[in-house]
Amino acid sequence: IRQFAVVGNPIKHSRSPAIHQMFAAQTGVALEYSTLLSPLDGFAETVGQFFAAGGCGLNITVPFKEQAYVLSAKLSERARLAGAVNTLWQQDGQLNGCNTDGLGLLSDLQRLNAPLEGARILLIGAGGASKGVVYPLLNAGCARLHIVNRTEERAQAMRAHFSSQLPDYATRMSAGGLLQAEGEWDLVINATSSGLQDTAPELPGVRYAADALAYDMLYAALPTPFMRQAAEAGAHRCVDGLGMLVGQAAASFAIWNGMTPQLEPVLRELRRQLQ
Ligand code: ATR
Repeated sequence: IRQFAVVGNPIKHSRSPAIHQMFAAQTGVALEYSTLLSPLDGFAETVGQFFAAGGCGLNITVPFKEQAYVLSAKLSERARLAGAVNTLWQQDGQLNGCNTDGLGLLSDLQRLNAPLEGARILLIGAGGASKGVVYPLLNAGCARLHIVNRTEERAQAMRAHFSSQLPDYATRMSAGGLLQAEGEWDLVINATSSGLQDTAPELPGVRYAADALAYDMLYAALPTPFMRQAAEAGAHRCVDGLGMLVGQAAASFAIWNGMTPQLEPVLRELRRQLQ
C-alpha cells in the first residue's frame, strides 16, 4: 500500500487526508494518507524520515513551502517560478518538488467558466499564496495582471521578480498598494490571509465587469469577508477557494499515481461536510 502524508505546523485540521482518500476510492489506487506534524525547526528531518521509511509522496503546507523548495534536488518549472513547493516525491534517488497550487486555481476557474484569455485580473496579496498563481495566470493568456498589497514594496518586489523571470510577460504586469487597485476587473482574486482576522482588504475604486468573478483563496462554511465585500461592490459571482484546494490535491495525486481523479464529486462532498 502506497504511503502519503501532508506536512505542516499546525496540521490537525487539514482536509487533505479526506480528499486523497476520496480520490483513492474513485480511482482504485490503494493508499494511506495521513497528517504529519513537523517541529518548526525539524522540517528536513521529518521529510527525510518519511521517504527513508518508504513513503511515496508528501504535500507541504504552512509554514514549510519555502523550505520544501530549498530541499528539492529537482524542481518543476512551476515550483521554480513560485519559489515554493507543495508536492514532494522521490525519483531516481532524488527529491523532486512541484507546486500544484496554480494548477488547482486554474482548474477551479475552468469549472466556473471564468475566461482567462484577455482577462483583466486584480491579484490581492504578495505572500506565498499569491506567488504560486502568477505564472499560471499569465500563461493562461490574461491581458493584464495587477498585483496589489497592503505593504506596497512587497507587491513591487514580486512584480520585479516575475518580470525578470518572465520577460515576455513583463508588460502585462503591474503592481501597487491597496489604494491603487482602482479600475474595472474581470477577475479579482484574494490571496491575502486577512479573512483569518475576519476582515477584507479595503479596495476603493474597484469595479467589477458585468460577468466578473470574485475569488477568495480562503474557504469557509459561510461567505467570507472578501466575498461579502465583493458582492457589495457589485460582483455577481463570488466564490471561495474550496475548489482550488481540491484542484491542487488532484494535481498532486496525478503526479504521484499517474491518474487524474474527478473533482466535482469530491468538491460536493467536502462542501457538504463543511456546512
Ligand atoms: P501566505 O503564504 O498565505 O500568502 P504571507 O506570506 O504571510 O502568507 O502573506 C499574507 C498576505 O496577506 C500578505 O500579502 C499580507 O499583506 P502584507 O504583505 O502587507 O503583510 C496580507 N494580509 C494579511 N492580513 C491582511 C489584512 N488584514 N489586510 C490586508 N492584507 C493582509
